[in-house]
Amino acid sequence: MLDAISRRCSVRSYTDAPVAEEDLRQVLEAALSAPTANNVRPWHIVVVTDAAKRAKLAQAHQWARFCAQSPVVLVFCADAGHQPHWWIEDTCAALENALIQATDLGLGTCWIGIRGGEGGREPGPEREEFVREALDIPATIRVLGLVSLGHPAGELTPKPPGPMDAVHRESW
Ligand SMILES: Cc1cc2nc3c(=O)[nH]c(=O)nc-3n(C[C@H](O)[C@H](O)[C@H](O)COP(=O)(O)O)c2cc1C
Repeated sequence: MLDAISRRCSVRSYTDAPVAEEDLRQVLEAALSAPTANNVRPWHIVVVTDAAKRAKLAQAHQWARFCAQSPVVLVFCADAGHQPHWWIEDTCAALENALIQATDLGLGTCWIGIRGGEGGREPGPEREEFVREALDIPATIRVLGLVSLGHPAGELTPKPPGPMDAVHRESW
């Protein structure tokens, strides 16, 4: 497990090779096996392979452009009405599981933030609305983020783990 976790890195360049249906199924199964608060499972995932739709998603913001190139984009959403407090944590856990499983299968991924936030240089509510409109996602559903998925083009350079001095034992 640690091997897949430490080999994961953000991939922003992909070959044209499609993702095998069985690989996609395993990535989705990993996502849908994540823990959720009170086992509510508020998540929804939209699988996008259509080139025109991916090209549209690539315009969600300037750091999403490679969605036009990856053969698959997974759109991680949640029914926040069903789980108002924990939907972000629940959906992040599912998304991270998908990244790790994809890495284990030799696929490349990148987490692309979408959720409307507090503004500044981060994606705002208009990004979320853009994705909702592009894919007919109901207004009641929140869009957490996208995952580009495909076969990496070129060498990967995973980062080393963060330093252990971020770990505090017994107390700070
Ligand atoms: C919440 C979140 C949002 C992110 N949004 C983007 C994004 O919009 N575009 C992008 O290219 N990378 C995005 N990333 C990827 C980060 O830039 C990347 O994880 C970080 O630079 C560390 O590199 P690594 O993933 O290769 O370890 C995001 C990552 C997280 C966790």
